[in-house]
Amino acid sequence: MGRKPVGKMYQKMNFQVDSTPNNERLHFQQEFSCKVSEGSSDRNSKHDLFPKWHLPVKVAVTLSVITFIYTFLREVLHPFVTANKNLFYKIPILVINKVLPVTSISLLTLVYLPGILAACFQLHYGTKYKRFPQWLHTWMLSRKQFGLLSFFTAVLHAIYSLSYPMRRSYRYKLLNWAYQQVKQGKENAWIEDDVWRMEIYICLGILGLALLAVLAVTSIPSVNRSLSWREFRCIQSKMGYLALLLGTLHALIFAWNKWIDINQFVWYTPPTFMLAVLLPALVLFCKTLFLLPCFNKRIQKIRCGWETDTKIDQTEMTNGF
Ligand code: HEM
Repeated sequence: MGRKPVGKMYQKMNFQVDSTPNNERLHFQQEFSCKVSEGSSDRNSKHDLFPKWHLPVKVAVTLSVITFIYTFLREVLHPFVTANKNLFYKIPILVINKVLPVTSISLLTLVYLPGILAACFQLHYGTKYKRFPQWLHTWMLSRKQFGLLSFFTAVLHAIYSLSYPMRRSYRYKLLNWAYQQVKQGKENAWIEDDVWRMEIYICLGILGLALLAVLAVTSIPSVNRSLSWREFRCIQSKMGYLALLLGTLHALIFAWNKWIDINQFVWYTPPTFMLAVLLPALVLFCKTLFLLPCFNKRIQKIRCGWETDTKIDQTEMTNGF
């Protein structure tokens, strides 16, 4: 356990034994034994540093690194190699702001994918009593951490996005666009489609982030203890899926007509938004499928009595995001 109780014990003993030489020896022994136990608890706490975060952090870092390399190749290296354009200035904000949302939505998907796999497993075996494979069990126990990391990266993504107009590169681009427009004799730069696209996808992004914030707050132990099991499930499951849906729609509407733009396929690779929405769309599709009466009834029947099993319920409660 932590160092605090040991420290308290040490102070208490120090207070009780003080004046005589005999007591001094006793004092030394007690001090020594307390220090030894303090040291060993230190060693233990080093071993146990954030054990539940190991897997989610590894997955998040791997996803980020892969997305960074992928985006760097497409957005920076490709124009440099093919058109000798120096776009390295994009790395700190624009490239990172592709990495963050892709990582965020992927991690959020990883919160809900094991539930889908578990439902498939139960449907397949027709029972809830067969144990899940160890990897699925471990994954399910890490959902809270996956969700919190998704929230963290979504917050960073929102801050990065809101910083766009502050950048000098953006101001120069704006000036250049204005100059081009004057040269072409255009009076109005307003493009109705683009205006709607942006208003809608930013709105969906903000709503998605707000829901993620609610999920993150309710995953704090003191808050989730104050909720009943049904309230907790309602927030973590229904709101979570809604957040995933909003995030996916946000990315889809951000892409708008770029889906059919062949120029998006740089070096024959699809754009990141296409890759980012694939898995969330699959999870949302499966969830909708399982809500159909034919599947839903069967799943409910298999899980019947499961909610009354307090042991399983409590594990779920502490591990849901
Ligand atoms: C306040 C909230 C948010 C704002 C202001 C916002 C803003 C943006 C902006 C400006 C882009 C375009 C980035 C670019 O130019 O490349 C974008 C793309 C994206 N956002 Fe958000 N966003 C928000 C929340 C979210 C949330 C909660 C998610 C999902 C968990 C999300 C997922 C995405 C994805 C997947 C993309 C596509 C990235 C790509 O090009 O591959 N965003 N968002």
